[in-house]
Amino acid sequence: MTTLLFTIVIVTQYYNVYSYMTINKYDLSDCVLNPKLVQEIASYKNITKTIMNEVVNNGDTFYNEYANFIDKFGARPAGSVVLEEAIDHMINLTRSNGLETVTTEDVMSPHWVRGSETATMIKPRIKPIAILGLGSSVSTPSGGITAEVIVMRNFNELNETIESNVKGKIVVFDAHYTSYGETVAYRVEGATKAAEKGAVASLIRSVTPFSLYTTHTGSQEYGSNVTKIPTAAITHEDADLLRRLQDRGATIVMSINMTSTLDYKTSRNTLIDLKGCEDREKLVIVSGHIDSWDVGQGAMDDGGGMFISWYVPVIIHKLKLKPRRTLRAILWTSEEPGLVGAIEYLNRHMNELNNINFIMESDEGTFEPLGLDVSGSQNAVCIVAEVLKLFKPIDKLKVSSTVGSDITIFNSKGVPGASLLNKNERYFWYHHSNADTMDVQNKNDVVQCAAFLAAFSYVISDLTEDIPRY
Ligand SMILES: *[C@@H]1O[C@H](CO)[C@@H](O)[C@H](O)[C@H]1NC(C)=O
Ligand SMILES: *[C@@H]1O[C@H](CO)[C@@H](O)[C@H](O)[C@H]1NC(C)=O
Ligand SMILES: *[C@@H]1O[C@H](CO)[C@@H](O)[C@H](O)[C@H]1NC(C)=O
Ligand SMILES: *[C@@H]1O[C@H](CO)[C@@H](O)[C@H](O)[C@H]1NC(C)=O
Ligand SMILES: *[C@@H]1O[C@H](CO)[C@@H](O)[C@H](O)[C@H]1NC(C)=O
Ligand SMILES: [Zn+2]
Repeated sequence: MTTLLFTIVIVTQYYNVYSYMTINKYDLSDCVLNPKLVQEIASYKNITKTIMNEVVNNGDTFYNEYANFIDKFGARPAGSVVLEEAIDHMINLTRSNGLETVTTEDVMSPHWVRGSETATMIKPRIKPIAILGLGSSVSTPSGGITAEVIVMRNFNELNETIESNVKGKIVVFDAHYTSYGETVAYRVEGATKAAEKGAVASLIRSVTPFSLYTTHTGSQEYGSNVTKIPTAAITHEDADLLRRLQDRGATIVMSINMTSTLDYKTSRNTLIDLKGCEDREKLVIVSGHIDSWDVGQGAMDDGGGMFISWYVPVIIHKLKLKPRRTLRAILWTSEEPGLVGAIEYLNRHMNELNNINFIMESDEGTFEPLGLDVSGSQNAVCIVAEVLKLFKPIDKLKVSSTVGSDITIFNSKGVPGASLLNKNERYFWYHHSNADTMDVQNKNDVVQCAAFLAAFSYVISDLTEDIPRY
């Protein structure tokens, strides 16, 4: 038995964000599973091969449906009409694949619409600056904002700067990327912290480890007691330029003009059930979010994860397999503005929470599959580790306190779950930018992710033993 030291991840909750604080937690050699269960799990080897082969044999059709979906609808922002059309498309596609058990549940969703966004450096010379407003940013006054710029390395530097040096200025947070979980704090809280010191606008260095002059949007939150100031992302290249100019003592002046609107619309979570043959009320959930940011095409975030999750009940049904428990795919709506669809589902189904045996999400890319990131008790992790042995070499196991984006809120309530581990080192290069297109994806990798997820989900939903909570 391999002796792997697992790590536990303490989550700072910023929507599909994990900040890692590693604590040694479980050791696989501590796993003591009932030999009958070990034998039962091993007996699934053949069926996992059958399922994976079926996905691979249908790989061209599957990938074509996925690319067709992305090309047909493009970006699917929360609250938009195009998102609702994309949801209708997935409902139809489910039915045309022979699965009739598809339902939707209404979700009241924020609907933030980007208008025009321009920025120009006026001093020390004229230069256009690419900007991309952050979700829920307010507009500038109609005359735009023209103000002096102050570049800050981090929150500490802002805190240590006297208020009169910040008041009336545009704060640029030039925080260099360390990890998404750490650096995203500037996106989420930058405008609030700058406004607390009297700034008139807040710009952030895009939250990405790599840039070819790309801007990256994402959600942000205004603190309840501060003036809502406009906020946007700029490129690494321009942040570096502004930093160098400031270091040389230049006075920098910028002009920013941004417009946007915010209202609320009804959207839908989509539930696709493959009814169980024994414990129908018990659920194994596999999920991804169907909404995306308004830039790029949401091909990677989260078109890929949504599509491979949707395919799980579809392909198992095609094989005429019936797991013991009900296998439910959920296409979450409105993840990007803050897990809005998932929170609605949790509230609506709170008294059935005990029926969720295991919950999965793929929202971190569909690159080459590696294994799973698991949240649960040591007993739960031991069973998942045993099942993963069926999928060698896709058998990497990471343990975190919560996983995924939407499903973190279920993990926090004690529901065990997992998120797809994949070779996603470049995920944040494309994330929330115009570069999130089908070009990020590789057919073979996506099909392999789909094959692994379908076969794994089948085994978990069919095991005679529940995944234990303790
Ligand atoms: C493997 O599974 C296939 C399809 O379910 C079945 O036809 C075949 O008999 C099985 N083989 C073994 C050795 O169990
Ligand atoms: C879905 O199917 C219905 C009924 O067949 C049809 O009216 C509708 O146009 C379809 N919608 C999409 C988006 O394909
Ligand atoms: C700001 O943009 C809006 C919308 O494009 C435009 O009507 C307005 O004239 C612009 N204001 C300035 C000061 O550039
Ligand atoms: C800000 O700085 C003051 C002292 O200048 C310190 O007392 C305070 O803890 C700092 N706050 C943060 C959030 O770092
Ligand atoms: C905001 O202001 C109100 C009223 O002054 C106060 O009760 C509340 O604690 C403040 N909230 C925060 C987050 O500072
Ligand atoms: Zn996502």
